[in-house]
Amino acid sequence: MAAGARLQTAKAEGETASIILEVSGLDAAGRAALEAKVREAAQAAGAAEVRVGMTAERVNRRIIAVGSGKGGVGKSTLSANLAVAMARLGRKVGLVDADIYGPSQPRLLATEGRKPEAEGQKLHPVQSPWGVPMLSMGHLVQPGQAIAWRGPMAGNALGQLIDAHWGDAEILVVDLPPGTGDVQLTMLQKHKPAGAVIVSTPQDLALMDAARAIRLFEQGQVPLVGMVENMAGYVCPHCGGTSDPFGTGGAETAAKAMGLPFLGRVPLNLAIRQKSDAGEPPAAGEGPEADIFAGIARGVLAWLDAQQG
Ligand SMILES: Nc1ncnc2c1ncn2[C@@H]1O[C@H](COP(=O)(O)OP(=O)(O)O)[C@@H](O)[C@H]1O
Ligand SMILES: [Mg+2]
Repeated sequence: MAAGARLQTAKAEGETASIILEVSGLDAAGRAALEAKVREAAQAAGAAEVRVGMTAERVNRRIIAVGSGKGGVGKSTLSANLAVAMARLGRKVGLVDADIYGPSQPRLLATEGRKPEAEGQKLHPVQSPWGVPMLSMGHLVQPGQAIAWRGPMAGNALGQLIDAHWGDAEILVVDLPPGTGDVQLTMLQKHKPAGAVIVSTPQDLALMDAARAIRLFEQGQVPLVGMVENMAGYVCPHCGGTSDPFGTGGAETAAKAMGLPFLGRVPLNLAIRQKSDAGEPPAAGEGPEADIFAGIARGVLAWLDAQQG
């Protein structure tokens, strides 16, 4: 946007110019550059004193929380790929890694070692190479450093990640910590997600944990978007045959039984693990995995848009 289009009002009284700029979507550097340019122009036009005010549109930002009853079922993998897939579909999406004791998003989206800038009390998200700005506790502490915060401190840390300068991001995907404890419930009540996506493997045991996660969201009055089944159907890279280490279809059946929409099935596949570890989200690539995540993203967006309308 040109500097002129940012001009909301400009008044001159004697040698004093008062100018109000519309700065939605600009970061601190962008705002500073714009202000400098406008000041210079006003001074060139003869103003001795230039007063610059700024306004920003409030983005109606909505949180999608990704949860599961237990760890290791692919919550972080789904969160990262869901965010990337939604961005690929043209939406403005940010990602918050709320797993403050075991952050994994910097690895998954190739932003390890990057530090977010702070402006006053607020953080600026780190830009990932996949079109998704993000924040993780992993960006604030040294890799491998033990994080041993107690509940209230952990809650404050999480608040810092969520109440950051998310700019024009309309959707924040939040990768929740595993489990269904007080920290999770407080987070849900405080930050009021628009909806929650539940991840489960097809296994009975994981499904029982998923049922716990569902109760957590219900308790926090967070609407459920639906369930994703992860690690279904292992395709052997040697023989091409499919086997089902964790069973298959269990999550879909369970979702139906609980009256929950089924959002999609992600196979257990070596490429997903390898690409994820290498910081290349499969959703950013081409092929069947990218298509699966795009399908899940479409389902979540359709749900969000229906809520809006
Ligand atoms: N569909 C999948 N196929 C292969 N590996 C997967 C799949 N989903 C997750 N993984 C791997 O399983 C491990 C745990 O996944 P992660 O997303 O970190 O789980 P969580 O966040 O629930 O603890 C990671 O190494 C990840 O790469
Ligand atoms: Mg995780």
